[in-house]
Amino acid sequence: MRPNTMTALEKSKATEGLWMVQAPVPDIGPDDVLIRVNKTGICGTDIHIWNWDDWAKATVPVPLITGHEFAGEIVELGRNVTDLNIGQRCSGEGHLIGTDSRQSRSGKFHLDPGTRGIGVNEQGAFAQYLRLPAFNVVPLPDDISDDIGAILDPLGNAVHTALSFDLLGEDVIITGAGPIGIMAAAVARHAGARNVVITDINDVRLSLAADVVPNLRTVNVTTEDLNDVMTELNLKEGFDVGLEMSGNQAALDQMVEAMVMGGKIALLGIPPGKSPVDWSRIVFKAITIKGVYGREMFETWYKMIAMLQNGLDVSRVITHRFNVENFADGFTAMKSGASGKVVLDWRTLPPK
Ligand SMILES: NC(=O)c1ccc[n+]([C@@H]2O[C@H](COP(=O)([O-])OP(=O)(O)OC[C@H]3O[C@@H](n4cnc5c(N)ncnc54)[C@H](O)[C@@H]3O)[C@@H](O)[C@H]2O)c1
Ligand SMILES: [Zn+2]
Repeated sequence: MRPNTMTALEKSKATEGLWMVQAPVPDIGPDDVLIRVNKTGICGTDIHIWNWDDWAKATVPVPLITGHEFAGEIVELGRNVTDLNIGQRCSGEGHLIGTDSRQSRSGKFHLDPGTRGIGVNEQGAFAQYLRLPAFNVVPLPDDISDDIGAILDPLGNAVHTALSFDLLGEDVIITGAGPIGIMAAAVARHAGARNVVITDINDVRLSLAADVVPNLRTVNVTTEDLNDVMTELNLKEGFDVGLEMSGNQAALDQMVEAMVMGGKIALLGIPPGKSPVDWSRIVFKAITIKGVYGREMFETWYKMIAMLQNGLDVSRVITHRFNVENFADGFTAMKSGASGKVVLDWRTLPPK
């Protein structure tokens, strides 16, 4: 029996905050499923929406149920959905795509120019129930918990970025030890990099990184010289691969300087607005730069689940867990800069 209403976290007003509301349980179309949400992760994007910054004002309609990182269970199937089952535990790709573009028709679904995000452009996952196209559902194997299921979206960002270039035996620098940078460091280790170095300006983040990732060299760039670290590691010519995960221009500049000739950089971090880039430095160092958006559908999901089943452990990146009734505490923890991932539990709400 589907209830008529559900609890959800909504951007109800065009001002700072999110509000816990009662909303209709979404109707599903023939190609959709209805998912009962068990756990959700709070993303940096959700903080932008909470803060109602310029990006959020220009992007997010009001009202909107937010959130896009989730794990749950299928409770209803659209009439065309034959390859999923009621009761199946799942996470899912929050990027909704069309199928008409050149990129989609060539199988590069993650590059569809019409991509719309749940919890950003469309009704999201901070709710007891989520409607999702069956195409976007990713079943969760029994050995992957709902907690990990709720952070597969950002782990996917980390995996997509880290696996942009061959890492086996390479020296890798990651700028930004936020949750995604830390998970990318774990992936680089798992994928067989030789040296993995991560930089930040926040010691709490760096010690979390060291706790999550074995054999990781953390560098606080406000107190330590990256050149000294390179000498210590015997890196004579520089790093082979750079993963930019801070969105900070100074971090990118430092990365470019620290790269080997012909090095490769993947950019995930999103700088606020335009920033000056020393292009001639990049040209003369013959550096390859790749922008990264989202996750590959569905190769990234396949790879990350396979790695999780084969020893990749990112569980300690979850530093805070709250019942959803206390969601404001979760947002406070995320905003403090002293957290890793924050996970909200939706099962504590009284059943409808
Ligand atoms: N491209 C995409 O599809 C996509 C998806 C998700 C997130 N992102 C972006 O990826 C980045 C990482 O996400 P997150 O959630 O881990 O972000 P986060 O904000 O939690 O982490 C960024 C980290 O960078 C650090 N930092 C700031 N200045 C620095 C400097 N000069 N050198 C080194 N580190 C510095 C901060 O202290 C912080 O710990 C963000 O910019 C986010 O907006 C992009
Ligand atoms: Zn996210």
